[in-house]
Amino acid sequence: MKKRVAVLGATGIVGQRFVSLLANHPWFELSMVTASEKTAGKRYSQVVKWIIEKPMPNQAEELVLEPLNVSRIVEEKIDAAFVALPKEVAVEVEIELARRGIIVISNASNMRLEPDIPLLNPEINADHVEAIEVQRSSRKWSGAIVKVPNCTTAILTLTLKPIYDEYGLKRVIVATMQGLSGAGLTGVPSMMILDNIIPYIEGEEEKVETESRKIMGLFDGNTIVFNNEFTVSASCHRVMVLEGHSLAVFIETNERVDVDEVARVMEEFKNNKIKDMSLPTAPLKPIIVRREIDRPQPRLDRLEGNGMSVVVGRIREDKALNGIKYFAVGHNTLRGAAGTGVLIAELLVKKNIL
Ligand SMILES: NC(=O)c1ccc[n+]([C@@H]2O[C@H](COP(=O)([O-])OP(=O)(O)OC[C@H]3O[C@@H](n4cnc5c(N)ncnc54)[C@H](OP(=O)(O)O)[C@@H]3O)[C@@H](O)[C@H]2O)c1
Repeated sequence: MKKRVAVLGATGIVGQRFVSLLANHPWFELSMVTASEKTAGKRYSQVVKWIIEKPMPNQAEELVLEPLNVSRIVEEKIDAAFVALPKEVAVEVEIELARRGIIVISNASNMRLEPDIPLLNPEINADHVEAIEVQRSSRKWSGAIVKVPNCTTAILTLTLKPIYDEYGLKRVIVATMQGLSGAGLTGVPSMMILDNIIPYIEGEEEKVETESRKIMGLFDGNTIVFNNEFTVSASCHRVMVLEGHSLAVFIETNERVDVDEVARVMEEFKNNKIKDMSLPTAPLKPIIVRREIDRPQPRLDRLEGNGMSVVVGRIREDKALNGIKYFAVGHNTLRGAAGTGVLIAELLVKKNIL
């Protein structure tokens, strides 16, 4: 029996990605799509400005957009709700959904740092799902809330984890070049971004600096403890790339790094927590290393592993930090949002939580 799932905010950029991934999913039945009051009541295909490279799935075309209403979601016997809503809207519904028995998998940034709310990048911290038991008993919820990390953080941490495991981390410095789709469907006006770079993305640097240490932290049986072994400094910038976030990463490691070994360590990613679970959305290789001097590039590499792999290149010694530096590209609405959301749902099915 497939699980009945809803996409909340299904008309937006992340919502469209969810619809595209869920419509033909082997374990999930796309049963409900919601939007704001202004578009609710209309057919999905009538309203959506579809921007995904694949055609809109047939199952989605005829679905009627519902307004956002917790009671309707419960009435429709939805097992899991994928949230692609603005934070301010998500805050109002997520807790009520969890209280009424729904599993909430959310891209909105509210509650991401709370110690009983798993913030999952499954290859790194699938074991943090155990915090759901604590969450349920302390908050008296029959459902649960699980968060998808910030898009840049999801991409960065995937590259950090194998290095952390092998050499230890002291300091991570990252400068980002972030695609336009990261700002949502009506995000950045063309007059502001054409021929330009915007050197500020509200809240982004703080998210990268804090969420990374939660994802790389550990669940001690009671609470998710942040990793205090390393610090992260981020500078985040919006550039005129449609999709894909690019990261220049500089790392001070604990142990001396053999640059030739780093590519191997990343490609092998030995401590991948979901590698034996056969989850349909898990990429075969979470990290792909390119050896060409001018790769990765967002336009050419963002769809590797169906957008779930992060592509790393230009791995070299960092003499200033006594460590390494590299360039990484990841898909912000797949690895950084909906793809990881669906991967989390698959993990929850495997763990009998969903
Ligand atoms: N874009 C990314 O790369 C990315 C990555 C990670 C996380 N996120 C997070 O994911 C969430 C969605 O982002 P997005 O980029 O997909 O945004 P978006 O393109 O602006 O889409 C927002 C969605 O929310 C709906 N919505 C807005 N106000 C609503 C209201 N008052 N009541 C009910 N529905 C409402 C919209 O419906 P209408 O079409 O009817 O307005 C639309 O479906 C945000 O929290 C964002 O921070 C985004």
